[in-house]
Amino acid sequence: MRSVFITGTDTEVGKTRVSAALLHWCAQQGWRSAGFKPVAAGLDAAGVNEDVQMLRAAGSLALTDAEVGPLQFQAACAPHIAAALEGQTIALPLLVQQAQALATRTDVLVVEGVGGFCVPLGPDVDTADLAVALGYPVILVVGLRLGCISHALLTAEAIRARGLRLAGWVANTIDPQMAHLQANIDTLRHEFQRRHQAPCLGVVPRLMGSASAATYLDAAALQKIFSA
Ligand SMILES: Nc1ncnc2c1ncn2[C@@H]1O[C@H](COP(=O)(O)OP(=O)(O)O)[C@@H](O)[C@H]1O
Ligand SMILES: [Mg+2]
Repeated sequence: MRSVFITGTDTEVGKTRVSAALLHWCAQQGWRSAGFKPVAAGLDAAGVNEDVQMLRAAGSLALTDAEVGPLQFQAACAPHIAAALEGQTIALPLLVQQAQALATRTDVLVVEGVGGFCVPLGPDVDTADLAVALGYPVILVVGLRLGCISHALLTAEAIRARGLRLAGWVANTIDPQMAHLQANIDTLRHEFQRRHQAPCLGVVPRLMGSASAATYLDAAALQKIFSA
């Protein structure tokens, strides 16, 4: 049984896309897998968050929207503000309990964070605290665009500074026009290895439509993480 926490260099960098790909990849290994989105902000017309729907569809376990996304707030904004607008507070212990309960039912639990790594969840608690409370190895999704190298390395430092294991990182092509794309990936690979001994777990190109990124994940590197 393995669980991982997916964070990103920012919001909209491909955390959900990569989380879904990981879930697909796990299913291909014959493992029971589930996604968990502890905190989500922004609902569709049916009252469900899009990430929650995607993770639920990508996992192999039949779960309800509420099991995958126990805290879904209406407003598509910073989660602590979205929660406050509904008079709610975000309690970590309950989220940890819910994650652990799901984890016992799966071989792999993929927990998607919210926004970047240090997004506040309340006046004195943030997403990094949630990651620490869960204690799972962290996978960092790097959205490839100008500026991403520093964002990636700062996030990696923040993860390690909290005593968490940085299991690896995924390069995700959000800006296919990025100048010197390959040179940026090479630099990220070098720096993650040099500073953190963290492997690249995949290089995802710009995908058409809703195509899964699973085939772009590095199977050998993932096997190492999940069998460690
Ligand atoms: N490699 C990719 N190819 C095509 N579209 C992508 C890719 N990665 C992300 N996207 C799209 O970019 C948007 C943001 O990605 P998402 O996974 O939701 O990011 P996050 O979870 O970090 O907010 C989504 O519409 C998603 O489908
Ligand atoms: Mg997302």
